[in-house]
Amino acid sequence: MAFEVLQRRYTGDSASGYEDSRRDSRRWKAENDAFSKMIREVAPNSVLDCPFGTGRWVDWYKELPGPIVAIDLSSDMLEQARRKTGGDARYRLVVGDIFTYDFAQHRDEIDLVVCVRFLNWVRWRDAKRAIERLSGINSTHLIVGATVFDGTLWTRMRQRANVWYRSIKAKLSGRAMNHVHDRSALIRAFEEHGWQVISQQRTFERSFGVNDLYCLQRARR
Ligand SMILES: C[S@@+](CC[C@H](N)C(=O)[O-])C[C@H]1O[C@@H](n2cnc3c(N)ncnc32)[C@H](O)[C@@H]1O
Repeated sequence: MAFEVLQRRYTGDSASGYEDSRRDSRRWKAENDAFSKMIREVAPNSVLDCPFGTGRWVDWYKELPGPIVAIDLSSDMLEQARRKTGGDARYRLVVGDIFTYDFAQHRDEIDLVVCVRFLNWVRWRDAKRAIERLSGINSTHLIVGATVFDGTLWTRMRQRANVWYRSIKAKLSGRAMNHVHDRSALIRAFEEHGWQVISQQRTFERSFGVNDLYCLQRARR
């Protein structure tokens, strides 16, 4: 993936208008609903959220003791987040890249890792790498959102054809491409890193795939 395209996408007006342009969508509301249930289920003390974006879950983190480590590549997105977190000492906002950030410094200090609306911006190889890196934090739980191919063979073939068509359109107009992943490969990648799915909630079903939020727990500690 052209990381620069993705980097440009979340700067300036796109960052300041990020939540306003999504807040009323069914997907946003469905994700909020799923996240509410999952965070209640996990009841963490501490969170590492990457990419943190504009800090959409700040209200959900209100009662947590902390620390809350908030990492994002875009300083403009984090600037929006900073308006919400203000001088809240529980927060550590860091401009960082999920592929190079030193997650080891947080090893064993984080209960829950959150990664929503990211894995589909990168190819499967990089999505797997991101899962591996986030798993290294050794948190007890992980909440991940991802759009995947799911359904019968015929449905998955249709979804793949739609993604292919959308990718060509994105490429021609210079937009960042969405990479939809294979659901069974995603679950396998979770399992390879010691996770088991304890709950999941669908947030949309479209012609090119379905999006789920997964709540994962370490299979063994
Ligand atoms: C769709 S937003 C998701 C933000 C937030 N998780 C949410 O659900 O609203 C994608 C975010 O990924 C960030 N991002 C893109 N590439 C990144 C990378 N390599 N490392 C960390 N963050 C990245 C962007 O800056 C942007 O804030």
